[in-house]
Amino acid sequence: MIVNKGRNKKEKKIFAPKAMVFAKSQDVDCHTALILIRQIRKKPDSILTLPTGVTPIGLYQKLTEAFEQGLDFKRLKIFNLDEYWPIRKDNSSSYASYMLNNLIKKTNLKKENWQIPNGEAGDPYQEAERYDFLLKNTQPVDIAVVGIGPEKTCHIGFNEKGSTLDSRTRYVFLSGETRRANAVFFNNPEEVPKGAITQGIANILEAEKILLMAKGEVKAWGVKRALKGLINSDAPASFLRCHQNVIFILDKKAAVFL
Ligand code: PGA
Repeated sequence: MIVNKGRNKKEKKIFAPKAMVFAKSQDVDCHTALILIRQIRKKPDSILTLPTGVTPIGLYQKLTEAFEQGLDFKRLKIFNLDEYWPIRKDNSSSYASYMLNNLIKKTNLKKENWQIPNGEAGDPYQEAERYDFLLKNTQPVDIAVVGIGPEKTCHIGFNEKGSTLDSRTRYVFLSGETRRANAVFFNNPEEVPKGAITQGIANILEAEKILLMAKGEVKAWGVKRALKGLINSDAPASFLRCHQNVIFILDKKAAVFL
């Protein structure tokens, strides 16, 4: 199959991700948490790529419960998928605050084992290079958990339409659609930063295993487009089919068009 890599066209093996569909959205959290908990038990110094947003909040609650029941996060290493730029770390809408409040402060995860692009960096291009270098030198990520953008955005991380298969960590401008969708996290839509630093598609695909979580009808078009449509930059999530170990963990609303 030919995958559009941007300017070049290249032969690439294509796989069919497993899709698991659950009746309730809480079951998406439970199942994703179960996979991560098993991984941490098996390999306490695992490296995970983790997302932010509304979708994984229940997942972080489940991981917190697992910690309270004795799971040790001390040796776990976390790389976040993305962060807005510019944004102050102590802004309650930053992804740094989100991670601190939903996971880091609630478990014994060591702050020095947690990496997230620095939204306060003076130069976002240099910061993206630094983060990419760090990620490359800590590889391989054992499991990358990602969400998917709403409606027709079909993004993963902040890899918006136009992102290529070989894209790496970089500074990107956010689409109007994404800024509107993310305005719920800010007091005022004008406050949504215009840019972000995101792991690229290539970084995500370097993980040993990838879990995509999606809940609700707002994700149904993107899930179908990613799993059944053309594999190209119009739908960055479709590039997940270039990886042989991907599971889409969905509630039935997100799976309604499959
Ligand atoms: P959400 O965001 O979990 O808040 O829906 C997912 C995304 O935009 O990637």
